[in-house]
Amino acid sequence: KKKAFIFDLDGVIVDTAKYHYLAWKKLADSLGITFTHEDNELLKGVSRVRSLEIILGLGNVSASEEDKNRWLHQKNVDYLAYIEKMDENEILPDVVRVLDFLKDYGQKIVLGSASKNAKPILEKAKIINYFDAIVDGNDVTNAKPDPEVFLQGAKNAELPNEACIVFEDSLAGIQAANLANMISIGIGDATVLNEADFCFKDFTKMSNEFLLDLINN
Ligand code: G6P
Ligand code: MG
Repeated sequence: KKKAFIFDLDGVIVDTAKYHYLAWKKLADSLGITFTHEDNELLKGVSRVRSLEIILGLGNVSASEEDKNRWLHQKNVDYLAYIEKMDENEILPDVVRVLDFLKDYGQKIVLGSASKNAKPILEKAKIINYFDAIVDGNDVTNAKPDPEVFLQGAKNAELPNEACIVFEDSLAGIQAANLANMISIGIGDATVLNEADFCFKDFTKMSNEFLLDLINN
């Protein structure tokens, strides 16, 4: 059967969380806000604007819209400097095996990400050509757990929501997939992603037989 497999980007295809962390950390340091790796977990799957609010909240800092916009811009400039050096070596293990398998079986491959930097990242990783549709932070207004990004992905793939399977590393993303009536597959810690239909530590744990079952059922 024809299904659409919708991939989140950050934390599913590439490990960009470390770069987001470094760029946010620089801002937090400059504002005298303590920002740890643990705090960074709160930002996974969360939009850029909301991420800044969370960081300011950690330091009880209030700021004008003008300041916030300036900081958001600077954070992205710093983030892009890390992205600039990215290449295909940063694709997470077995992502390409899964993409190739799905392509061989004639399945649709879609990106469903909150990031406004999704396209340059896919280009740097040299996998943009796998994607039949890309829905990213430039296309949607409502952040996960709102299902908008995945509903738009189904629409662009011209398949019903029930024929879509979502790979996500954030709980908000799993909730968005569930709200969209799609099959949700967690990539990461099953105790965190406890609302997912299935969960795998990473793609190396996901067999071709499992993918075939998703295609046929
Ligand atoms: C993903 C990441 C978040 C990030 C968001 C926006 O959801 O998990 O950490 O804040 O995208 O990314 P952007 O590249 O537009 O700043
Ligand atoms: Mg993610």
